[in-house]
Amino acid sequence: MLVYILSRNETLYSTQRLVEAAKERGWKVEVIDYLQCSIEIMKGELHINYLGKQLPKPDAIIPRIGASRTFYGTAMVRHFEMMDVFSTSGNLAIARSRDKLRSMQVLSKHNVDMPKTVFASNKSSAKDVIALSGGAPLVLKILEGTQGVGVVLVDTEKAAKSVLDAFYGMDVNLLIQEFIEEAGGADIRAFVVGGEVVGAMKRQGAEGDFRSNLHQGGSATAYKLNRKEKSMALAAAKAMGLGVCGVDMIPSSRGPLVMEVNSSPGLEGIEKSTKIDIAGKVMDYIAQNVTPKSATTVKKKRIKRDSIGA
Ligand SMILES: Nc1ncnc2c1ncn2[C@@H]1O[C@H](COP(=O)(O)OP(=O)(O)O)[C@@H](O)[C@H]1O
Ligand SMILES: [Mg+2]
Repeated sequence: MLVYILSRNETLYSTQRLVEAAKERGWKVEVIDYLQCSIEIMKGELHINYLGKQLPKPDAIIPRIGASRTFYGTAMVRHFEMMDVFSTSGNLAIARSRDKLRSMQVLSKHNVDMPKTVFASNKSSAKDVIALSGGAPLVLKILEGTQGVGVVLVDTEKAAKSVLDAFYGMDVNLLIQEFIEEAGGADIRAFVVGGEVVGAMKRQGAEGDFRSNLHQGGSATAYKLNRKEKSMALAAAKAMGLGVCGVDMIPSSRGPLVMEVNSSPGLEGIEKSTKIDIAGKVMDYIAQNVTPKSATTVKKKRIKRDSIGA
């Protein structure tokens, strides 16, 4: 088996663990900086060049695409997919997960519960938008923010109006969301691989922060999902079409609510808190889906086209 990990940084915990897990299985594995790949397109021929050489076609890729590089990263993933290479997450699903609005639309369509969310342009009145989202306190989110950056809590109508005006004035697209106060700065991340929950953790925001992101100083502990959380995590992963993802759910008085689905979830928090070999689960998922070498005949049938429609 030859596996490429598409990652910009081979020293990251997640990348290193994936390399280790592949090596443990005796597989060949390489970390490929997708920004240094160039693609070659001709009639009926698709190639990828890397560091001046044509890359041998791998059996599988594991995309770890940085949030600021979604366009270039998904173009590379798409190219591998066009070459009939198995990807643990498809390019369309990654792009979908990177846009908070698109994600919410897809999740809503699949009946996944979520905080009430409003989207409007700067042509709408801030007052109307605030009223539509249920009034302050509210959470405002930049559409393509990540790691808690670009997520703001506004306590009063007055603050909400001035922050909205400021964002709209800068032509920033944002979501306006009901604030789930009872979560107390905590959320639950379920790690889903190949349609199964392989681990879960509870994240608690740093003292005084409503955001639970580990990058914002949050801490993680192992967590056992209840039935509802488990079925919600699986439904969200399926709706988004992601083979490997982290489904973030916020506990509310009306039950768990999905906040977002991450297509390149970090492994450090989940592995260290749960002591589960999550990287190994990703390799098992590849092994279940790929027949090395006899690939060309098997793969054409195996690759599922993304049919989510958004
Ligand atoms: N509607 C909300 N109510 C309460 N807390 C929220 C809400 N939305 C987000 N949060 C908190 O903020 C964190 C970051 O929000 P999220 O939408 O996941 O953005 P990011 O992509 O930056 O992680 C969440 O993990 C959660 O702790
Ligand atoms: Mg998040």
